[in-house]
Amino acid sequence: MDFLDNLVLPQSSHHMILLKYLLVLTYLIFIPYLSVLIGTNILSVYFNRKADQTGERSYYNFTREIIDIVTFNKVSFIALGFVPLVSAALCYAQLLHLSEADVTGYLVISLIMISAGFILLFSYKNSFHLKDLVNAATSSHNNEYNIKHDVEVIGSRAERANKKYGVYSLVLFALSAYVFIGAVKYASDPLSWGSVHSILDILLSFNTFVGFLYFTVAAIFITSAVILYIFSGRNDEASVVDETVKIIARKVSLSLGLVSAILLPLFLLLNTVLIPESGLNNASFLLLIVMLLTVLLSSGYFYLMIRNSDLHYSSFVLFLVIVFVIAATVKDQYAFDTSTQNQFIKLTENYTEYQKNLKEELGLSVETISGADIYNGRCIACHQFENKLVGPPYNDILQKYEGKKEQLVQFILNPVKVDPNYPPMPNQGLKPKEAEAVTDYIIKVYEEQYKK
Ligand code: HEC
Repeated sequence: MDFLDNLVLPQSSHHMILLKYLLVLTYLIFIPYLSVLIGTNILSVYFNRKADQTGERSYYNFTREIIDIVTFNKVSFIALGFVPLVSAALCYAQLLHLSEADVTGYLVISLIMISAGFILLFSYKNSFHLKDLVNAATSSHNNEYNIKHDVEVIGSRAERANKKYGVYSLVLFALSAYVFIGAVKYASDPLSWGSVHSILDILLSFNTFVGFLYFTVAAIFITSAVILYIFSGRNDEASVVDETVKIIARKVSLSLGLVSAILLPLFLLLNTVLIPESGLNNASFLLLIVMLLTVLLSSGYFYLMIRNSDLHYSSFVLFLVIVFVIAATVKDQYAFDTSTQNQFIKLTENYTEYQKNLKEELGLSVETISGADIYNGRCIACHQFENKLVGPPYNDILQKYEGKKEQLVQFILNPVKVDPNYPPMPNQGLKPKEAEAVTDYIIKVYEEQYKK
């Protein structure tokens, strides 16, 4: 994706933080959608086969119903699948600019596959309608021979489409998810950035494989909760559905929900063990615990519902699943954020350089010893007084330098490692006079505006 690299403009760290939030939002939409897309596709292929083998009409109806959950219209795919994946690809193009990681390229591959998969899934869905139509037409008696023949031709086409397209779309979705997971993991592991030379390195990585297994189990867990909720009879839409279909839907979603909720912690832990150490911190452990709790609680509720054969807790399980998805997304993006700190320092430096060159080009002088200018020109990229950016907020640190101005000047001239929660501060290359000016400036602002 070299052409994208040329389009990328250096961004300030404020913009990059916004991009990271955008990425979290994008995943909150895309990942549940992808999960339900794959989950329902698996179930429909399975039950379509089963309907063929047993000739049981209700299996067939069930298959039709669950395909509708994700294909009720084409716009839903654009809004929940296509657009989020495109925005994720663009976010990574900015966030990983100047690094060796071509995550955007892999996401585009994933995007192409999921789109192709969706087209097939839509044809699969239509083949059901065609089949029904053809059945109705051929079974009525007063048809002309010609029409009947045409209808039979269409019927055999629909039959073929119905047998194959569901499987094809499933294969494409699974491949798309596989590449997506590989790419996202790759993005959070800067140590591997130099060593990946083609998509094969990502596809063949053990890490991707485990991530994919974890995703698949999670997808079934999420899909079960969604199906259970839809068919629990708690909303009106499902009331038009055949009673036998409802019974199948409940049975399938309860048992799959229980099994996947029991298996999920195992895969979750395995997947967490493989996160690079640089991506772990207290917040990610906390989120992991939240995820484990939601899964354990859900398995308990699935079990209760099976035992008491009532569906009392279906909305509560759906709620737990939503919490699970949010915690999972935030946890992964937190890991991405912590493990790529050095990348962000590199980008901020690039931005400072870019601004400096721009100013020079415009004939503005960059030589200055005004403390305010130095702060606004350099430090602000990483520091504010109140908020944490790449570096700590000044309000947190200036206290300890009270009455020790000389020490502060020395630190700014020659930064040393202080706080393990932050990456080291890069040397700003200031002259002693400039360091003194900026020190005076930040102390003055702190004392006038923030000191309590
Ligand atoms: C590229 C980002 C970046 C820029 C630009 C930057 N800093 Fe920092 N700064 C950091 C980081 C990261 C830390 C935390 C370092 C640590 O704790 O080891 C830090 C820490 C500090 C500290 C706290 C030292 C302590 O004892 O805890 C001060 C003071 C400071 N910076 C001042 C400045 C000033 C003044 C400027 C502008 C001339 C500046 N920084 C520019 C990233 C930056």
